[in-house]
Amino acid sequence: MADQMEKIVALAKRRGFIYPGSELYGGLANTYDYGPVGTELLRNIKNLWWDTFVHRRTDIVGLDASLISHQKVWEASGHTSGFSDALLDCKSCKRRIRADHLIEDFLENHAEELRSTSFVPVKISADELKNAFVTKKVEGWTEEKMEEIIALLQIKCPSCGKLDWTGVRKFNLLFPVHLGIVEGDQDLAYLRGETAQGMFVNFENISNSTRVRLPFGVAQLGKSFRNEVTLGNSVFRTIEFEQGEIEYFFDPENEDWEKLFEGWKESMWQFIIKGLGIREENLRWRLHGDEERSFYSKRTEDMEYNFPFGFKELWGLAYRTDYDLKQHIKHSGKELYIVDPKTNKKVTPHVIEPAVGINRLFLMVLADAYHEEGERVVLRIDPKIAPYKIAIFPLLANKEQLVGKAKELFETLRAEFTCTFDDRGNIGKRYLYQDEIGTPWCVTVDFDSLEDHAVTVRDRDTTEQVRVPMAELSSYFTKKLRK
Ligand code: GAP
Repeated sequence: MADQMEKIVALAKRRGFIYPGSELYGGLANTYDYGPVGTELLRNIKNLWWDTFVHRRTDIVGLDASLISHQKVWEASGHTSGFSDALLDCKSCKRRIRADHLIEDFLENHAEELRSTSFVPVKISADELKNAFVTKKVEGWTEEKMEEIIALLQIKCPSCGKLDWTGVRKFNLLFPVHLGIVEGDQDLAYLRGETAQGMFVNFENISNSTRVRLPFGVAQLGKSFRNEVTLGNSVFRTIEFEQGEIEYFFDPENEDWEKLFEGWKESMWQFIIKGLGIREENLRWRLHGDEERSFYSKRTEDMEYNFPFGFKELWGLAYRTDYDLKQHIKHSGKELYIVDPKTNKKVTPHVIEPAVGINRLFLMVLADAYHEEGERVVLRIDPKIAPYKIAIFPLLANKEQLVGKAKELFETLRAEFTCTFDDRGNIGKRYLYQDEIGTPWCVTVDFDSLEDHAVTVRDRDTTEQVRVPMAELSSYFTKKLRK
């Protein structure tokens, strides 16, 4: 499966989905640039998310908050004190790594051997150890417990193979920014570590400036920044990434939170399988245990996708109670509430939060779509989100009449669909190229087209070719896209 990931990463670079960041200067770790085709796919995913959760709902409004925010926002949210990763360094090769990832990868890869071995830990309880072996998760463990399990299991450095670690230490993930040009007079602010806080600090603005009534959601799509150490795996975990988050506010006296939670689970699942066209067998839910869940959360579940490097978190769903609003009330000294028009009661609502990484959705789409069929590599991306819907070719690039007709058709179709035009190389090569970028249909204008005003439409998935009159192409593709 690691091999599969390498192939996907190579294709992504070869065909202009993703490039390593700052590559011209030797690269900058954990940053990526999206190429021409990747940008289209990323936008299509974001537009579908926004359309599904904002435009098609009457109970959710949008927000686009600043990326740089006041240090007090992050003190109130708990990020300046508690938003950190436990890291350790290999003294031999200087590799820095997240302790939980090191341990979890080891547990994942050595499950069989561990079953027949017995350990006598001191700081970790027998139940905790057993649980870690079963779930292969250690999130929420203290630094001491992680150090102990690394020593017990003799977990070596994945880069150099040595067992020579520093202790496990915590590092804050927020990026500080210094505002003001005169040194000494500068104010400390932060790049946001999540989009969610924008919804809480604007809660009063939104309830005063719009017609919202509980229950309602506020959605935001945008960049977040975390100074993370990652294990590679392309855009799965990066220091700059895009989140799609919704804070769904409700009065717990009027709503059954468990019912709302289940409703969100269903909406998220449907978005992935019907919206993005992902195979359902590659998805699962994982409930957070007490140790892993934040202390204020009553329930947290992660939707996980079976990436080529295993099942990993894709989309989190958390019932965060009224913790965040209460924290901002405490730190700002302002009241944050909405008035129930029926009872005139002031309500500081509770919140359920679905939070997804758009770049993870992107990587999932590539991984799920990647297929090899003999010599052919094809990305079976759902046509709704494919970078281009239709590629238009003249059969021969040196026949003016064919090129003219194909360009005319391209101009007509691009008014309705995202299209691309290609007259390089032969038809076979053009098909292979379009298969690799996931274009669902290729249209060829040939000599017969000049007489019968029809074209050959070739289907990406079946490779079948049909003859369609040019005048019917618009309704032909509209019908196909509605499926
Ligand atoms: N407001 C809650 C919150 O931010 P999170 O689990 O830290 O929760 C939500 O992040 C989602 O954002 C994750 O499920 C994941 O899809 C994505 N995400 C988090 N960190 C990321 C990173 N470094 N790179 C890419 N995506 C990330």
